[in-house]
Amino acid sequence: MLIDQFGRRIDYLRISVTDRCDLRCTYCIPEGFTEFEKPANWLSFDDITRVTAMFARLGVSRFRLTGGEPLLRKNLPELIERMAHTAGVQDLSLTTNGTQLARYAGDLRHAGLNRLNVSLDSLRRECVSAISGKDSFDKVIHGLQAARDAGFERIKINMVPLPGINIDDIDDMIAFCIDNGFILRLIEAMPLGESGQQADYFNLQALIETLQPKYHLQLSQKVYGGGPAKYWESPGGDFTLGLITPRSQHFCETCNRIRMSVDGTLYLCLGQDQSLALRPLLQAGCSDEALENAIHQAINLKPQRHEFNENPQKIIRIMAKTGG
Ligand code: GTP
Ligand code: 5AD
Ligand code: SF4
Repeated sequence: MLIDQFGRRIDYLRISVTDRCDLRCTYCIPEGFTEFEKPANWLSFDDITRVTAMFARLGVSRFRLTGGEPLLRKNLPELIERMAHTAGVQDLSLTTNGTQLARYAGDLRHAGLNRLNVSLDSLRRECVSAISGKDSFDKVIHGLQAARDAGFERIKINMVPLPGINIDDIDDMIAFCIDNGFILRLIEAMPLGESGQQADYFNLQALIETLQPKYHLQLSQKVYGGGPAKYWESPGGDFTLGLITPRSQHFCETCNRIRMSVDGTLYLCLGQDQSLALRPLLQAGCSDEALENAIHQAINLKPQRHEFNENPQKIIRIMAKTGG
């Protein structure tokens, strides 16, 4: 088992398979950003599968593929199939912006993907274009439909509420999620990189005070997945709302996850710099023992918490690099 210095058990690895993205969400990738990782430094599917198998042996059961936009990585269903067949992988999921889902949903399902989280910040086409930098709305809606048709259930919609931009869209988004059986998750914007630092966050503690009576929501003990969201449910169970509150109420004391970037660097916290590069070891054909030791060494570096409120200028690494 992987236990960090603060007694937290790590059972969740988020693997970024590319730092590139076809969108440019204002809070994520800065306009004109060009410092993407060179393909020569990307981990191969063989390397990713090897790392997955080792983490699974060490008690990690949840794996999520992220980006940038993971569906831009060529032949992703092939990687998913290999990971799904790896002993110890119990929960295999993907976070996507949805633009390529119409094409890939069936393949992802057949490959053995269990769960999908899809980003969508508004149901107004112009608002989606303004936030994401592209007219991506129709593609995402078609992608969501294809994902449902392919058999994915309880798909999660990730929405980042931005003051003055999409706050008034939350009610429509709730109605849309009820109609489609989606779980809505609201995420407070985090100051990651220049882009994230420019984004105001919307305090979700304050929001729930108005949503709670309006939709008769009750705090739920149920956990839908491996992430940090706290869930609220409507009485008939027809609506589930997840709140991700890194700014107004951080959840670091229960953190169960670490991340690996496309170049095989383990990042021990989304909001801190501690990291350990696995790629040099993998490239040198290291033994399983050496790989295991490196992973233990990395876990020992995991910091106690982020400092998004105390030190918002700190993290220069954009979200697309660490994979959310
Ligand atoms: P589930 O397994 O479905 O719960 O997924 P998840 O919430 O772990 O995955 P997803 O990629 O949908 O994450 C949603 C967002 O939650 C991320 O993009 C981050 O913005 C935020 N998040 C996830 N983990 C952490 C974390 O460890 N720290 C902070 N500060 N934010 C996190
Ligand atoms: N703060 C909060 N969420 C962010 N995301 C990307 N950048 C940020 C940020 N700075 C979200 C996306 C997506 C998830 C992977 O991360 O909207 O839903
Ligand atoms: Fe874990 Fe760091 Fe996220 Fe806190 S900010 S929950 S310690 S990854």
